[in-house]
Amino acid sequence: MRSHYSGIQIAIHWLVFLLVVIAYCAMEFRGLAPRSYRPYFNITHVSCGISVLVLMVARLLVRLKKPSPPIVPKPAPMMTGLAHLGHLVIYLLFIILPILGLLMMYNRGGPWVAFGFVMPHAAESNFELVDTLKEYHITLAKLGYVVLGLHAAAALLHHYVFKDNTLLRMLPKRGR
Ligand code: HEM
Ligand code: HEM
Repeated sequence: MRSHYSGIQIAIHWLVFLLVVIAYCAMEFRGLAPRSYRPYFNITHVSCGISVLVLMVARLLVRLKKPSPPIVPKPAPMMTGLAHLGHLVIYLLFIILPILGLLMMYNRGGPWVAFGFVMPHAAESNFELVDTLKEYHITLAKLGYVVLGLHAAAALLHHYVFKDNTLLRMLPKRGR
């Protein structure tokens, strides 16, 4: 049994972390720049968001094939169950959230750009649907802050309080 996540799992975990931070920042700080910069913030947001979607699906597929490495010393079974549930929530959240974003952009019915390419859109706009999707997108994005906050806090708690190898298993070799 491996003692750490695989190199590819670790690389994707921290790449997704970076992309999620950029996607959030692009929306939270877009108001600070002049309005003419808005398209750059939007392109950054949607490009990072779509990348998160692809990477979360990829890592979920990898994870379904590879069990997570054991934590030493072994936590109580209830803690392990809670951790697995928490990870499932993160996977679902960061797959559904960008899909809602994609559906929103598609149903706006006008050309939009991601990664420098014009993306497909509906022939006619459906603003009622877009408004509903936007509400869900915003609610899930807010929930994301809470879930990721708890996730990061749990990782630090394991490292500094329980003093087990939970965090070390997710760090690149040089950082261990
Ligand atoms: C990691 C994935 C994503 C996160 C964390 C995220 C988060 C957010 C946040 C925090 C907002 C601002 C909400 C507010 O106004 O309070 C937002 C708005 C928005 N997001 Fe995302 N998002 C993600 C992915 C996507 C994707 C993939 C798309 C589209 C392809 C998208 C399209 C939008 C749109 C259209 C808005 C509304 C902008 C407006 O106010 O008109 N998002 N998102
Ligand atoms: C400061 C930020 C973060 C820290 C310190 C952190 C730390 C960790 C650690 C230590 C693990 C291994 C936990 C275990 O196996 O029990 C883990 C797993 C995981 N993290 Fe994070 N993480 C952070 C941010 C994120 C972000 C932004 C995402 C995604 C949006 C994320 C998604 C996940 C997922 C899905 C797993 C489960 C991996 C699996 O077993 O399939 N993490 N994280």
